[in-house]
Amino acid sequence: MNIAAILAGGSGLRMGTAVPKQFLEIEGVPVIIRSINAFLGSGKIDKCIVSVSEDFISYTKEQIAEFIRTDTEIFVIKGGKTRGDTLFGVLSFMKEQGFLEESVVLTHDAVRPFINDRIIEENIAAAKKYGACNTAIPAVDTMLLSSDGEFIDSVPDRNKLFHAQTPQSFDAEKLYKLIENTPRDVFGMMTDGCSVFTYHGEKVFLVKGETYNIKITYPDDLIRAKGIIREYFN
Ligand code: CTP
Repeated sequence: MNIAAILAGGSGLRMGTAVPKQFLEIEGVPVIIRSINAFLGSGKIDKCIVSVSEDFISYTKEQIAEFIRTDTEIFVIKGGKTRGDTLFGVLSFMKEQGFLEESVVLTHDAVRPFINDRIIEENIAAAKKYGACNTAIPAVDTMLLSSDGEFIDSVPDRNKLFHAQTPQSFDAEKLYKLIENTPRDVFGMMTDGCSVFTYHGEKVFLVKGETYNIKITYPDDLIRAKGIIREYFN
């Protein structure tokens, strides 16, 4: 089974809007709905789990009922305090429901509504072949490492640097077991499943992302998002 996990438990403080950014409408459609639809529309997803903060569970269900017509089962569950907690909550729900075995889980930021079928298909194939993958694009700018934010420690070789995007996809059962075997304080510092795999020395394959697969973070991103919709998603 291929399961899309839409992580939407964040509060969007950097966006600064009254409702968290995943619920903002862009060109008449909420960001979270665009993200869910990207997966459902690929035809590769068997079930979808949407994880939101408790206060937004019923609102999310209403939004799904208003905007989405699908035969695919969509579950709305309670997110966690951190992104890592939200991720583990999804996996625990999958375990309870008997969905963990032989499943690929595609974990995705609800605030990245601009993914395409190729990214989804390559994620599924890579998770099946390698156990884990991260969508990413090569770094464009030279990146600087600075531990104090005042002076440069070093300038890493840009050819080895990538921007992480989502989806990040996994053999679901393996991810669950690796998290169980990660010390709590260590997992507490992690925000994603790829960190868990690399911590245990497991390989994570890089799937080619897209420059337009932006994470909506600041108010400016809403302007960029409108341009992306016009150019690629009309
Ligand atoms: N996320 C989550 N559960 C959390 C925190 C984040 O599911 N406890 C999700 C967000 O909803 C988002 C993705 O993880 O889809 C990336 O989060 P990010 O945008 O970095 O953080 P937010 O908390 O949403 O925003 P901010 O950091 O500006 O407050």
